[in-house]
Amino acid sequence: MKTNGRIQELLSIRCLNDIEYGHRVIWPLLDYLGVPGDARRPQFQIESPFTTGLLKLDYLIHVGDIPMVTIEGEPRAAQFNEGYRQARNYSRNFKPRQRDCAMREMTVPFLVVAAGERAEMHRAVARGLNIEYEPLLSDGKPAFLDWQELLGEAARIPVFGAPDPRLRRLAAEEIGFRISESQQVLKADAATQFFGDLYAAIDSGAALHDMDDKKIILFNQIVALARHGKTRKIETACRKAGLAARVVKKVTDALSWYERKIEANEFSGAAVARGYRNFLIQPGGRGAPSNFSGTTQHRPVLHRGRIRYREVARYFTPTEVIQQMVRLADPKSAERVIDMTCGSGGFLAECLDRVAQTEGDRKARDFLTKRLVGTDDDPFCVSCSREMLTLMYPDCAEDVHVYLHNCLYRRAPAGGEQKEDADAERHLAPGRYDVVIGNPPGNDEYSGSNRDEVVRRWEEWFGHHRGGLMDHHCFIRRAVELAKPDGGRICLLLPEGLLARDNRGIFDLRHQLLRDCELRAVISLPRVFKNNNAKMAVVYLARNPKWNRRRRVLMASVEMHWSDEDGDEHETDLVAALETLVDRYHSTVEPANSHLAPGEGLVDAPPPATSDDE
Ligand SMILES: C[S@@+](CC[C@H](N)C(=O)[O-])C[C@H]1O[C@@H](n2cnc3c(N)ncnc32)[C@H](O)[C@@H]1O
Repeated sequence: MKTNGRIQELLSIRCLNDIEYGHRVIWPLLDYLGVPGDARRPQFQIESPFTTGLLKLDYLIHVGDIPMVTIEGEPRAAQFNEGYRQARNYSRNFKPRQRDCAMREMTVPFLVVAAGERAEMHRAVARGLNIEYEPLLSDGKPAFLDWQELLGEAARIPVFGAPDPRLRRLAAEEIGFRISESQQVLKADAATQFFGDLYAAIDSGAALHDMDDKKIILFNQIVALARHGKTRKIETACRKAGLAARVVKKVTDALSWYERKIEANEFSGAAVARGYRNFLIQPGGRGAPSNFSGTTQHRPVLHRGRIRYREVARYFTPTEVIQQMVRLADPKSAERVIDMTCGSGGFLAECLDRVAQTEGDRKARDFLTKRLVGTDDDPFCVSCSREMLTLMYPDCAEDVHVYLHNCLYRRAPAGGEQKEDADAERHLAPGRYDVVIGNPPGNDEYSGSNRDEVVRRWEEWFGHHRGGLMDHHCFIRRAVELAKPDGGRICLLLPEGLLARDNRGIFDLRHQLLRDCELRAVISLPRVFKNNNAKMAVVYLARNPKWNRRRRVLMASVEMHWSDEDGDEHETDLVAALETLVDRYHSTVEPANSHLAPGEGLVDAPPPATSDDE
């Protein structure tokens, strides 16, 4: 590793802008580390995690088709944190889109940030569900791997699967390559590849065409059987699900490529759960098929005792947005937490992971089995969420509280659109939760199941459904109702319309929210879903009708683009901006409220109407 004075000499060169800094500092630094010219790719294009556009890394260093280091360079030291966050987000979400340059899609193992006279090299490490980057140090000083050392690191990275079927045999041998416990980052990438290969096999037959729930339930069943070493039963499960012999063979072939990994019990734990989530929410984006997300997904509906499939829109929340919302709401192991529209389980998994990281595994298990709850009315989503949590703690599989249930009521109507899980009822009592978190649907008309029942209950609870039945109205009110009346936190990703519009009773809704809850933060975001233009905002509230009107509130807006000093426009790094805002909330906004006594509230109002009290 290199740490010596030549690096400091280079970093002390003053530069006016990025281009000059690139030429006079970064390029000579790479020379000094011995990186050959043909291993450096300036302005390397990757897919934006949020839009269909492309982003450019300042530089990518690669060994053959293995991306090894992303580099972000900024002329001023004050830009270090910004550059670091950018490099980290690009490295975690590395989807190469550079023409004429084959590069693997994987977590980039190293990054370099150089800003003014400060430069550091960081290595990717798995922290539970997430990938973090840790600085390389030698005697307490920033250290840098040279080219020979990078070659050594690249040699330890196995190939997972091969896109060319003719290379499958080779890939099978390589996949057998054991990933050590210290290579958790690779484990997540290998898991994504495994899930992708297995799904491709199941999806190659016509039997389950458009039946997302059946496909994913079979998929999850196969993963569970493989994890328990019951490979024989897999064929039976496939045949029972109606797969043709040819497709069953493809499934067993795909499993055989990963046999050694499965036998070595490498397919559980947080890194694998990360791989599972990556598989669920990707591919998608440019040119890649979108398996489960988008406007034409399918879910079953019971109609006169028969199952029919209905087209639905299904959008998963980007992991990085979930992470920051979980940081904002900061759930603890002793708290009851619900995501009432849990989708693929991203919020549940991040809440669990946060508890594991901050309080340890024992508390996390306790939290998972006693206080963490998810509901969703789409069987596909329930199956995914359960699998996600099970992968994180396989020994708790029987005690995971994720239910197929419409969250807007406690007791399902007779003859409804699906058979809901009655075990959910005790978890849907009003005033039960310390934290209600998630991303409920945000359509102009109620989009969930059993509409008639929701209308009926709504009139019973609120005396009207003025302005029609918008998703906003239903899910926000229900979130407030589920939160504890004395401080239950509500952190939701909502369409901007709630904040900006003034029609269909939204004005009343806003007024009621401010009557019953203290507003803590509103963060407007640019577009966050790849395949949907909706503009969203994070809204953070705490149920407390006696809130103090002098409270400080974080009000922020993240714009899609920003302009530098030269007037050049850049796409905002949404994740970095959101992370900075959440830091600011915890370090500045909330401490400034700590001296305030409880206030009198906005109006002298009775507590909100509740229903179904236990
Ligand atoms: C925007 S998605 C949430 C995405 C989720 N946070 C994720 O990342 O996977 C909204 C979810 O709400 C569910 N949903 C819609 N109406 C519902 C209802 N009435 N009760 C429970 N879940 C509902 C949908 O099935 C969908 O999974």
